[in-house]
Amino acid sequence: MADDRACAPREDFPLLAAHAAGGAALAYLDNAATTQKPACVLDAMDGFYRTANANPHRSAHALAAAATAAYEDARATLARFIGASPEETVFTSGATHALNTVAFCHCAERLEPGDGIVLTLLEHHSNLVPWQAVAKITGARLSYLAPDREGIVSDEEIDRAVGPRTRVVAFTGMSNVLGTVPPLERIVEAAHACGAVAVLDCAQSIAHEPLDVRALGVDFAAFSGHKMYGPTGIGVLYGKRELLAKTPPLLRGGGMVDAVFERASSFEEAPGKFEAGTQNVAGAVGLAAAARYLGGIGFDAVRAHERKLTRALVSGLDAIPSVRRYGPGPDDGAKRGGIVSFNVKGVGAGEVAHVLDRRGVAVRAGAHCAQPLLRHIGVEATCRASVAAYTTADDVDRFLEAVEAARDEAVALATSRML
Ligand code: ALA
Repeated sequence: MADDRACAPREDFPLLAAHAAGGAALAYLDNAATTQKPACVLDAMDGFYRTANANPHRSAHALAAAATAAYEDARATLARFIGASPEETVFTSGATHALNTVAFCHCAERLEPGDGIVLTLLEHHSNLVPWQAVAKITGARLSYLAPDREGIVSDEEIDRAVGPRTRVVAFTGMSNVLGTVPPLERIVEAAHACGAVAVLDCAQSIAHEPLDVRALGVDFAAFSGHKMYGPTGIGVLYGKRELLAKTPPLLRGGGMVDAVFERASSFEEAPGKFEAGTQNVAGAVGLAAAARYLGGIGFDAVRAHERKLTRALVSGLDAIPSVRRYGPGPDDGAKRGGIVSFNVKGVGAGEVAHVLDRRGVAVRAGAHCAQPLLRHIGVEATCRASVAAYTTADDVDRFLEAVEAARDEAVALATSRML
């Protein structure tokens, strides 16, 4: 690839810049697992601890007021980022915490034996394992929308899987293995047509596709900060105001109560009732800085940049003999993001990842917390390369050279065994 400009400058990311300055530039292609953090996020968190650290919504001193303002400003920023109101924007520890809250506190309270919970087979375990428990507790029936082997969910499959007894449809905004984006509007429409709640796990899409929860019409949405250039340990649960009002909290304790008596308590309104205990205020501040950073780049630029890189990844992998790639290409007509899974014939996915690592290329290998999907597409493990706004054409070139090296090592080993 000739043009090596990223839409987020590498100099913005201290970890990547330090590697480059040390002469061992890191081709970090594990962005679906977690992203690197720009200096503005680190500075915002550092600044909070240095100038405004206190416990928000509690004490009556000036520093506590500053902490409360920082925390609530962060909430307002995140709410704007997804098109919600602050009252509908709950800070959680991450997407898993948010999805467990929806599953156990909203849905389990309402499901009856024989009701349907429909997931897609593209789900990450975080939007699958909680629903298995909810189905067991309530007697609801868990079933799946099956994508084709490329990871594409068809309208016919949605019509087949979502029916009159369906009460919950929970679905990913982007497969963390194949990069495919299900037809979100169509799934929400089908869920609402039968009176089901639509639950979006947008952990994997949040840094790559703009989200407007109101325009999409989802009832709940969940994402983590760390996959969108923010810190770990902070995430967001969005819920429609009237649904959050009817949902009891998952965690109970200090900071979320209205009145506490010896045998019973009443709770604050949302979002406060979902935020028991001292919150990750610096994390919220850092996440808001990340949202502003992404907003400053703009999703049009992010999408165009990542699409170009994905095209180079896919065509480069397809040109290497012995590489099997999974999922559609960016020009195959399917909506997809920059996550590309593959295997090298005769080499385990973990071994390929080690060869790449020795060459300064970071990818993930394994089942990617999506075992049902891997079984569905007939593999036990894959190597996965995933791009971000700071990924460059040079990163992709180095990745492709390293995959060729892994392939060459496998061929040399096989030849020596035959001798
Ligand atoms: N969910 C993250 C991934 O897909 C950890 O790698």
